[in-house]
Amino acid sequence: MFEIVSKKTLAENVVEMTIKAPRIAKTHKAGQFLILMNYEHSERIPLTIADSDKEKGEITIVFLVVGFSTKELAEKFNVGDEIFSVVGPLGTPTHIEKFGRVVVIGGGLGVAPIYPICKSLKEAGNEVISIIGFRSKELMFWKEKIESASSKIIVTTDDGSYGMKGFVTHALEKLHNEGEKIDRVIAIGPPIMMKNVAKMTEPWNIPTWVSLNTIMVDGTGMCGGCRLEIGGETKFVCVDGPDFDGHKVNWEEMEIRMKVYKIEEEKIKQEHQCKIGLK
Ligand SMILES: Cc1cc2nc3c(=O)[nH]c(=O)nc-3n(C[C@H](O)[C@H](O)[C@H](O)COP(=O)(O)OP(=O)(O)OC[C@H]3O[C@@H](n4cnc5c(N)ncnc54)[C@H](O)[C@@H]3O)c2cc1C
Ligand code: FES
Repeated sequence: MFEIVSKKTLAENVVEMTIKAPRIAKTHKAGQFLILMNYEHSERIPLTIADSDKEKGEITIVFLVVGFSTKELAEKFNVGDEIFSVVGPLGTPTHIEKFGRVVVIGGGLGVAPIYPICKSLKEAGNEVISIIGFRSKELMFWKEKIESASSKIIVTTDDGSYGMKGFVTHALEKLHNEGEKIDRVIAIGPPIMMKNVAKMTEPWNIPTWVSLNTIMVDGTGMCGGCRLEIGGETKFVCVDGPDFDGHKVNWEEMEIRMKVYKIEEEKIKQEHQCKIGLK
């Protein structure tokens, strides 16, 4: 059982939770994730480890309430409660070395997972330019945290309510057009954002890595649920990734696979939500 030690609402439907998990905190590296089960018979929720504290033995997750399980976690679990199971750290850590100037892009919920990556890149001696994008100012979170792990930060909002008006890709294009030499780009966010970043950097020949969030079940390479074509080969995102060369991802297949269980997910939401008293 894993005790919740803090819980915060960062923006509408965005929850930050810190959980006691000493063994995961001890070995966690940037880019890795965990699989959580609310109760013994709950479905498995893969979530990125957004922060960890080895001394306190704690890990932090930031999640968006999208369907039944994330809603249940957000509404039924509070500080002092225990989560049935938290397994991790899973996945191959993000490749960190001294690349030079690295632009790290986080879109929406993708802002949380870029924090440990920015921190590790900075520790490795890189100049880290972070670009974080939100639909509007009300949805912005972790700006100060990302800023503390970056040499420079650019914030974009779709509606212009904070920072630069537009998408993260507009900020990236501006940096490139201003002649900034960029040695590597790392992008985490909605698949459409990562796809557009990768399409933009391909003609510029800038190595670009993305973190994929395909449907996962076991998270250990056993079920094949997360398989995806990368560079013409079948890869299991949970063990071979979640980080991949964005120029090699079959984005069309990714889009199709993300929708595979849409009908079942909606059915579960309708059937169980009222039964267990969720709003
Ligand atoms: C490696 C990885 C890291 C992730 N990190 C985060 C994170 O840090 N924060 C965050 O908010 N979300 C993250 N996700 C997505 C998160 O797992 C889903 O939002 C969650 O499982 C939704 O469950 P649900 O029952 O609330 O919604 P459902 O109604 O079951 O599904 C809503 C949508 O969530 C996605 N989803 C559902 N089940 C899974 C599953 N088993 N695996 C992957 N995606 C699923 C699908 O796109 C689906 O259409 C991550 C996913 C992966 C694979
Ligand atoms: S989630 Fe089962 S193989 Fe990747």
